[in-house]
Amino acid sequence: MKIPQHIAIILDGNGRWATNQGLKRTAGHEEGAKRIKEVALKANALGVKYLTIYCFSTENWKRSKSEVNYLMKMPERLLNNKQVNNFKNENIILNHIGRKTKMPTKTWAAISAAINETKDNSGLVLTFAFDYGAIEELIAAINQMLTAQLSTIDEKILFNYLYTQNLPDVDLMIRCGGEQRLSNFLLLQNRYAELYFTKKFWPEFDENALWAAILDYNNRSRRFGGIDSD
Ligand code: IPE
Ligand code: IPE
Ligand code: MG
Repeated sequence: MKIPQHIAIILDGNGRWATNQGLKRTAGHEEGAKRIKEVALKANALGVKYLTIYCFSTENWKRSKSEVNYLMKMPERLLNNKQVNNFKNENIILNHIGRKTKMPTKTWAAISAAINETKDNSGLVLTFAFDYGAIEELIAAINQMLTAQLSTIDEKILFNYLYTQNLPDVDLMIRCGGEQRLSNFLLLQNRYAELYFTKKFWPEFDENALWAAILDYNNRSRRFGGIDSD
């Protein structure tokens, strides 16, 4: 069995899941949040090294004020001392990619405290893409390179300026919720990712669903522009 080194997930369908049950959209976010830990523990147990979860995009600010406020409060609620200790005991390293400056100060404080608390672990790197967008990432990188007055760049330098500087390219990119698009997620880092789409809404995505995606990945032939070696 080939276990992907880096799995990225676009967690989608929280709102539709809730609406289908006659609940408010926020109830879907609440249920979906529980799946993050479950899926991360399974990934860690399987030996996945990096799991990157798209939780809030740079476009999600377009949603109603109340939904945005709710989502912005989630890190404070979910990364409380107890939860962070759980991650710490599971040897999981918490990480973030995206813009840090637009979210409320308290939101960033919760995320950065969780990162700091788990930095000495050595297991799965669980990265929250929160206020992440691939175009914003590229523009921020270019602005930093301009500030550094670089006269020329190469691939290595470019990737070192991205939020993902410490992460390898994505091997398996999963999107649940039925849509088949990337929605501005890791457009460069997904360059050779195997794409997997499922109709399951994120609140229904459990460890068996993760396993199904990994099984599917095992049937792919990755060539990276070359030819099969066997
Ligand atoms: C994913 O679920 C969570 C976020 C994007 C914050 P959605 O909220 O997009 O759920 P749907 O797609 O509207 O059902
Ligand atoms: C993508 O989901 C963003 C996240 C999962 C955080 P969206 O629900 O925002 O994507 P679109 O609008 O359907 O493309
Ligand atoms: Mg959606």
